[in-house]
Amino acid sequence: MKTFAFDRPRSPSTPRVPEDTTARRAATSSATMRAMVYRRYGPPEVVALAEVPKPEPKDGEILIRINATTVTSSDWRARSLTVPPGFGLLGRFAFGVFGPRHPILGTELAGIVESVGRSVTRFKPGDEVFAFTGGKYGCHAEYRTMAEDGLVERKPTALSFPEAAALSFGGATALIFLRNKGGMEPGERVLVVGASGGVGSAAVQIAASLGGDVTGVCGPSSVAMVRSLGANRVIDYTQEDFSAGSAPYDIILDTTGTASFRRCERVMRPGGRLLAVAGSFSQTLGFGKPSKASGKKVVTGVAAPKGDDIRFLAALAGAGAYRPVVDRSYPLARAVEAHAYVDAGHKRGNVVLSVYQDPELASTQGRRQ
Ligand SMILES: NC(=O)c1ccc[n+]([C@@H]2O[C@H](COP(=O)([O-])OP(=O)(O)OC[C@H]3O[C@@H](n4cnc5c(N)ncnc54)[C@H](OP(=O)(O)O)[C@@H]3O)[C@@H](O)[C@H]2O)c1
Repeated sequence: MKTFAFDRPRSPSTPRVPEDTTARRAATSSATMRAMVYRRYGPPEVVALAEVPKPEPKDGEILIRINATTVTSSDWRARSLTVPPGFGLLGRFAFGVFGPRHPILGTELAGIVESVGRSVTRFKPGDEVFAFTGGKYGCHAEYRTMAEDGLVERKPTALSFPEAAALSFGGATALIFLRNKGGMEPGERVLVVGASGGVGSAAVQIAASLGGDVTGVCGPSSVAMVRSLGANRVIDYTQEDFSAGSAPYDIILDTTGTASFRRCERVMRPGGRLLAVAGSFSQTLGFGKPSKASGKKVVTGVAAPKGDDIRFLAALAGAGAYRPVVDRSYPLARAVEAHAYVDAGHKRGNVVLSVYQDPELASTQGRRQ
């Protein structure tokens, strides 16, 4: 385990990290846990393994022993302070002006309820759950508390812990854009640009399960995978430009930021919606948006899931209609490698961090069982 040194003064709420945590491992008590922590924005190496206080469930909260979590495009953005074109300084307000507001990354998890606070009725110790923490992060750790009425649900038995950990981020984004914001109807023709990524691989499955006629756009090595997820047609973006085609779409969901309205307009049906998941600042402000007379729309914004969305995803997974794609899995302690892989922008589906199975953490985890 790396030695972790702070690069700025610690605030009272900052977890204390010993200078040489390896030497002090023997002194680790059940009041601490291991987590991947970052204190400044930068490359994957700003993230390091550290000993931090183990959270305790308050009234109405549950404590989850994390089995698996993911490294997503959200973790990449928050770690490197990389925001979509035009958002500039707004990124600092979102993630922390003087440094990261949430030093432990990770937006989603799957694990086992270890203990519950007073007045908790929905869960009991031993329950297998998955959860979404979104912009509050905090999942790249051995433990996380959640409000029992937060975005936490029983793990679908059809999914493994790594799959359940990857259920929410891409799934909720895809569901909210397609169904809630895009008003997708059965029978509509849906084009997913970036169909092999975390959001795209979920969007293909969810659009198909909502009765859409789905076409996916991806690179050559992902064509077979995207077809297997339920796409009726797949366009290899290195061979063919979807916007030069003749088939019009009701919905174009773009996760890559490459599909401007100008580019898509010709292949959108009247009433068509361009769902700009990775929309630029100017798109968000409405620049270049279609005239009302065209009946076409550009939809941007942030996907903020509610309990119903998460339950819908769990039900889809339970029915076999949605299975998160796991590309690679790394032990928590090797999260730097996972970040580097995600940064490259070529992941297929999801990158998982295995927490409970991490051999580097095994000694303390065994003691805490
Ligand atoms: N608005 C919101 O609330 C919200 C929520 C979640 C995510 N997002 C944003 O959505 C974007 C996508 O997120 P993600 O997690 O899905 O990213 P991701 O998993 O990192 O996406 C990587 C995938 O994109 C594919 N890709 C790259 N360029 C492409 C192109 N021109 N055409 C087709 N496929 C292409 C890559 O395939 P190849 O390797 O073959 O190139 C790779 O499989 C990010 O910008 C993220 O910030 C927004």
